[in-house]
Amino acid sequence: MPTVDNPTEKTLAELGIRDREAVIEEFAKIRERFDFQIGLPADEIRKLMLQEAWLGSESEPATSLRNFWVGRKRGVLALINDNWLKPAQPVLKPVVGAELNRLKTYIETRLEKKRLSLVEDQEKKSSAKDRVDLSLPGVIRPVGTHHLIRQVFQEIEDIFVSIGFSVVEGPEIETPYYNFEALNIPEFHPVRDDMDTFYLELPKGAPTPLLLRTHTSPVQIRTMEKRQPPVRVIVPGKVYRRDNPDATHSFMFHQIEGLAVDADITFCDFTGTIDYFVKQFFGESVKTRFRPSYFPFTEPSVEFDVSCVFCGGSGTAKSGGTCGKCKGSGWIELFGAGMVDPAVYGFVNYDPKKVSGFAFGIGIDRLAMLKYGIDDIQAFFQNDVRFLRQFP
Ligand code: PHE
Repeated sequence: MPTVDNPTEKTLAELGIRDREAVIEEFAKIRERFDFQIGLPADEIRKLMLQEAWLGSESEPATSLRNFWVGRKRGVLALINDNWLKPAQPVLKPVVGAELNRLKTYIETRLEKKRLSLVEDQEKKSSAKDRVDLSLPGVIRPVGTHHLIRQVFQEIEDIFVSIGFSVVEGPEIETPYYNFEALNIPEFHPVRDDMDTFYLELPKGAPTPLLLRTHTSPVQIRTMEKRQPPVRVIVPGKVYRRDNPDATHSFMFHQIEGLAVDADITFCDFTGTIDYFVKQFFGESVKTRFRPSYFPFTEPSVEFDVSCVFCGGSGTAKSGGTCGKCKGSGWIELFGAGMVDPAVYGFVNYDPKKVSGFAFGIGIDRLAMLKYGIDDIQAFFQNDVRFLRQFP
């Protein structure tokens, strides 16, 4: 309903209009009101129609404006007809009639113009939306790359595959048998303390405990169970230990296990293979050495060192002073390895009198850090693109 003090709700007599001039003036006011409304933007029109509590205010602004002015029953023109013209004094009727007709034509013409311009606007908008501008630059989506760890895996696999090794994989959830016992690590063996292990929570009565493998060595056993010698495999994968995270420790890291078993594999084959690999990976100029070490599943066991890749083995940093990476020794510890302990063959039904072999376990994260000069292992796992982008 139009507002309470809407003059068109009253008769001219009630409004105190008694002569021609006053009639013309009153029509002029109505026209001004119309001009004001039609000049408003669409959402202002909508607001106004709501304010006026106009019945058609929920529809299109242009439509409700039209209904508000020329609607048959309650439109302003209809009200003027009913309240001003019909009850007008005979002397005023001609001027009221003439003014009403003029107003009607005026309003109709302007409403039609407005409608046309709104339609045109709408068309312009939608055709701009549909138009395809072939000259615009395309959307460039960043192409992902392999993570540095994945790249180093690939590099190492390529080197070993080129000398006759094949790649096998094994489960990350293991039984204590494969992770420890079959590798000659009985329960209560002190080595188990070094490999603080994550055990899975299992329902009561589960047939065997399960753990997250602490090294890739269980795949040695799984492979030998399935294959007869000659065996030459490498095993890339994730391993888990209950280590507190710091610059060199992570509860999850990566290893590549290597295993070669055949008749007559000697210690020379072993060191030659490792030396070849290290030189391929770090460059011909590096030197290697090994030191006695201990693993329950290899005998003898060694720890392989490479001449420090940062100071060229001199122990002195480029800036003078002691090399911080090798602490002045000129050597960096690389990984553990050794000749397969004959006891292990017992677990896989190989005859230790007929076969011999070697095994090694390379920490990938450590190797990648050495080769690419990364000083915090956590950088691999934080997924910071500023880090990842440096290794496209
Ligand atoms: N599995 C050992 C470790 O994770 C590494 C190793 C593998 C040593 C094979 C010798 C032979 O520490």
